[in-house]
Amino acid sequence: MNITMIGTGYVGLVTGTCFAEFGHHVTCVDKIEEKIKKLDSGQIPIYEPGLKRLVAKNVDEDRLRFTTDLAAAVPGADAVFIAVGTPASRRGDGYADLTYIYEAAGELAPYLDGYTVIVDKSTVPVGTARQVKRIIREKNPEADFDVASNPEFLREGAAINDFMRPDRVVIGVESKRAEKVLRDIYKPLYLIETPIVCTTIETAELTKYAANAFLAIKISFINEIANVCEAVGADVTALAKAVGMDGRIGPKFLHPGPGYGGSCFPKDTLALMRIVQEYGENVRLVEAAVEVNAAQKARMVKKIRDMLGGSEAGKTISFLGLTFKPETDDMRESPSISIIPALMEKGAKIRAHDPKGMEEAKKYLPDGITYASNAYDACTGAHAVVLMTEWNQYRALDLEKIKNLLKEPIFIDLRNVYDPQTMKELGFKYAGVGRK
Ligand code: UDX
Repeated sequence: MNITMIGTGYVGLVTGTCFAEFGHHVTCVDKIEEKIKKLDSGQIPIYEPGLKRLVAKNVDEDRLRFTTDLAAAVPGADAVFIAVGTPASRRGDGYADLTYIYEAAGELAPYLDGYTVIVDKSTVPVGTARQVKRIIREKNPEADFDVASNPEFLREGAAINDFMRPDRVVIGVESKRAEKVLRDIYKPLYLIETPIVCTTIETAELTKYAANAFLAIKISFINEIANVCEAVGADVTALAKAVGMDGRIGPKFLHPGPGYGGSCFPKDTLALMRIVQEYGENVRLVEAAVEVNAAQKARMVKKIRDMLGGSEAGKTISFLGLTFKPETDDMRESPSISIIPALMEKGAKIRAHDPKGMEEAKKYLPDGITYASNAYDACTGAHAVVLMTEWNQYRALDLEKIKNLLKEPIFIDLRNVYDPQTMKELGFKYAGVGRK
């Protein structure tokens, strides 16, 4: 089939490339000429494991191409996916900014040629697809098209696997014709018996928010329970294991930490709160999850301060990991963005290392941080080390070496990677999250 993907950001690029890998012919369009030039020369603007190889393979096999020319990319497409950004609105009120979506709809409309399904891939508030339909109809009254919603559930760092082996595919449509086009696009997944949930457009749009909000609630729940564990002297790791063994709860997303970050949970929880307000409804659990997440980040600052004897002034703190999760260079809403400046304001000096995120980190963190070449370099001469992001590189550190490099053997493990008893035996003053 012929697919046009508008937007070569994280979602558009991964989705377009994976559709090409399915065997479809995909044209990825972006307005930013520089980006298209880079992609044409084999450079990938983001770090996502496996993506570079998959792009190269599909370009070589003539199923994937990049262009800035919408007029050439839209005619003849069976489906045009809109995967442009929906950042939080600049007004700071939590609403998603839909300018780019509506712009894309208006710009593609004149080039529609033959029956085409216009699919919202970006995470958008309920009602957006109907607006897209209205805009296209206005610009091109003769066009033969349907709109649809097909939310993505990709995790950064695991996006290709998530795309190739999804738990489910959700398609929101209002005609059998559009349903058939989308089912045909996802046909390669029938082999692995991926369930396809076919529903209304509004349901599909809301499903994405509900899924992300539930996961955010699950993380905030375990973070609160971790704090209770610290108070009563219990161990959250064993607790989460036991709780997660209940098939109704499940073991995933029960890892306590410094709070969730990334491009989705913080933005989508706020957007959902705003959407429901407009309908006079409430999502109190979601509001609580957002509050708990902010409090968790602040609690980590206090934890580090307490471990340093009550003040970070004049102390050097080593940070291992800066990104919001491993296997990505994405710094958006990373807990490190609030934790590190809070410590610096009170006079702490920071030495930091991240395997992939240091260039991005420089855009988000204050000046004055020393960026280290590896974990050991980051620990050299520091009064404490904070394991911030659970990259594999930090899971089997030479702990004796770390202890010798540190001025004081203080290890604050915000991801519970290491065993408290072992750390104690090695001579560290150790703190995890939710463990004695
Ligand atoms: C998320 C959703 O998982 C995905 O389906 C959606 O399409 C986009 O948003 P992503 O933001 O890439 O994906 O990362 P995810 O793996 O979900 O982690 C989000 C945040 O939660 C990270 O900061 C992570 O460290 C944190 N987290 C996750 C926890 O603190 N504990 C957990 O148990 C799981």
